[in-house]
Amino acid sequence: MTSMSHDRHHPAEVAELASAAAFAAAPARPAPSPSPARPDWPRGTQQLRYGGDYNPEQWTRDVWLDDIALMRDAGVNLVSVGIFNWGLIEPREGEYDFAQLDEIMDLLAGAGIDVALGTPTASPPAWFWTRYPDSRPVTRDGVALGFGSRGMASPSSPDYRRASAAVTEQLAARYADHPALVMWHVHNEYGAPISESYDEHSVRAFRAWLEDRYGSIHGLNDAWGTAFWGQRYQGWDEVDVPRRAPSVSNPAQRLDFARFSSNALLECFIAERDILHRHTPELPVTTNFMASSCSSADYWRWAGEVDVVANDHYLTAARSDSHIMLALDADLTRSLAAGRPWMLMEHSTSAVNWQPRNLAKLPGELARNSMSHLARGADAIMFFQFRASRSGAEKFHSAMLPHAGTDTRVWREVLALGHDLGQLESVRGSRVSAEVAIVWDWESFWAQDLEWGPSVDLTHRDVIEAVYSALWRRGVTVDFVAPQAELSDYRLVLAPSLHLVSDGTGAWLTDYVHGGGTLAVSYGSGLVDENDAVHPGGFPGPLRKVLGLGIDELLPFAAGETAALDTGGHGSIWSEDIRLTTATAITRFADGRAAGQPAVTVNRLGEGSAWYLATRPDAATFEALIGDLLAAAHVTGKLQPEGLEVVERATGDERFLFAINHAQTDARLVARGVELLSGDAVEGSLLVPGGGVRVVRLRG
Ligand code: GAL
Repeated sequence: MTSMSHDRHHPAEVAELASAAAFAAAPARPAPSPSPARPDWPRGTQQLRYGGDYNPEQWTRDVWLDDIALMRDAGVNLVSVGIFNWGLIEPREGEYDFAQLDEIMDLLAGAGIDVALGTPTASPPAWFWTRYPDSRPVTRDGVALGFGSRGMASPSSPDYRRASAAVTEQLAARYADHPALVMWHVHNEYGAPISESYDEHSVRAFRAWLEDRYGSIHGLNDAWGTAFWGQRYQGWDEVDVPRRAPSVSNPAQRLDFARFSSNALLECFIAERDILHRHTPELPVTTNFMASSCSSADYWRWAGEVDVVANDHYLTAARSDSHIMLALDADLTRSLAAGRPWMLMEHSTSAVNWQPRNLAKLPGELARNSMSHLARGADAIMFFQFRASRSGAEKFHSAMLPHAGTDTRVWREVLALGHDLGQLESVRGSRVSAEVAIVWDWESFWAQDLEWGPSVDLTHRDVIEAVYSALWRRGVTVDFVAPQAELSDYRLVLAPSLHLVSDGTGAWLTDYVHGGGTLAVSYGSGLVDENDAVHPGGFPGPLRKVLGLGIDELLPFAAGETAALDTGGHGSIWSEDIRLTTATAITRFADGRAAGQPAVTVNRLGEGSAWYLATRPDAATFEALIGDLLAAAHVTGKLQPEGLEVVERATGDERFLFAINHAQTDARLVARGVELLSGDAVEGSLLVPGGGVRVVRLRG
């Protein structure tokens, strides 16, 4: 929560505040379902969308003309404009100056380049901060953040909401009929760089939100367990935001503040979106998510409010498996889009500027990254940003057009990608399907990130990454699912270290197994309910029946400690004192603090089975276990050549095979059809050169 697990983004920006957020924990969280009546794709061309953020305010008109000519050379057909130009279009409150934006819009329209027009509310102007200082966001430590950067005001500030609505209204009225406009891009990355604010507007709004949620102060005391440490409240005016306190704050209060904060941001989005819908009902409205890298928004909630899901993704350059983490992010984004095509709204052509060491992408990596998003359902490939900025905080960030101009490797790769996307038009609208699902729950992340848990070594995210990576290596495509989503399409469902499990979620997983599903749950699951309280009867709470076991005591390990398993290999981080009820132990600890206790169990229930893993196994044991689970669930998944990513998209009776080789050595696959980037026939054996990408329209 306070130590936001935002693994990208301007470290200075994210430091303390950036954190959790989301939403009222209604017991059942419906799958995202934007109204079918809404347009769900930018108006205009049926081609794949290609382009990026375009910030021409930094340049003179002659540069705009060069840029537009270069965009056409590269096949750019969509740019996001105006995301940070509030201070330019409204230089003083209520005074608007659209001369520059008008000209840019006209030039782009004249060149046939479409615009996703931004509302600039992620960066209020100087006059706003001067006139409304109480809208400044306040950190948990009470520091009011200043101007001279970009970033969100307090989302609960009435002045911020009013000023945002006013500028959005002006933009919508002015450009509704502009020929360049094909969609709206609201704000920028809600939740980053900050998502929580501890200012006085937030205090009032939090109290109102709690009153709405609990009805009475008694209900709040009950949910928050305030009998503990004598925290009992007598009235709403005593309730505060969870500021820094002498010791650990009430965890239920912090969890609710995370929900409240995401809700407050979402309210800001919805207010702008509704203005835009009113002016342009025929155009989709989106905002750019950061699917797996931002912990502060419950995107299951948000996804139902955008007309098209759009996502930003940046590699963590220091990770050698960054391409696997990219795939995870893309699969999560597709899942948020409920399987429909989605937009990659931003990624980088090469280095970013906000990591400790900003490594340039290797030759070909730009294309591999882009194709990996495309393979996993994106129908738009966009970058931050078109032309590199000379001034300001992002001058060392790569762009489509580098500082050094067009005679550069990056520009040549940008041209080549534009050309390749042109060859892949037939892929547009096709879908990716999966037989395996991983449960992803932002509320569980928040609860697990609270202070004073059983072990700092266990994180929901790490375990999800391990499971996802093992499946990736076997070429198994994965969907992510929200608690209580529909599971009937999946043969195998994994719930890796799902810390927070409500009774409803427990029943949901139990029903899935009963009906014939294969479920795998790992250690540290079912520890708390939606109020961060331990379930009556102990761990793993409402998963006891489906797993056929109870846990008498959690037995986390000391740093570096391991214990042998009786089937070979070892476990680390975690063990438990397990009482089997109906489950059978497949593997036991051979020594250590849990010697003789089960480490892997299986429970048959109804038509299905539920597996449980009580430790973090070594890599080989984990790999074998994933193989066993796939076999038990009748899912095909054999180890692929090292670094080879294989995904299919399909529509009607057409199937497209994407093969992306992240390794240096050549790989071969069995395939028949036509390779779309070259037009070559593939007659049984497809060569995917080291570092290369192949897309085959399959035959037969
Ligand atoms: C994104 C942001 C962009 C730019 C980019 C740099 O998170 O939306 O405006 O800052 O990061 O990587």
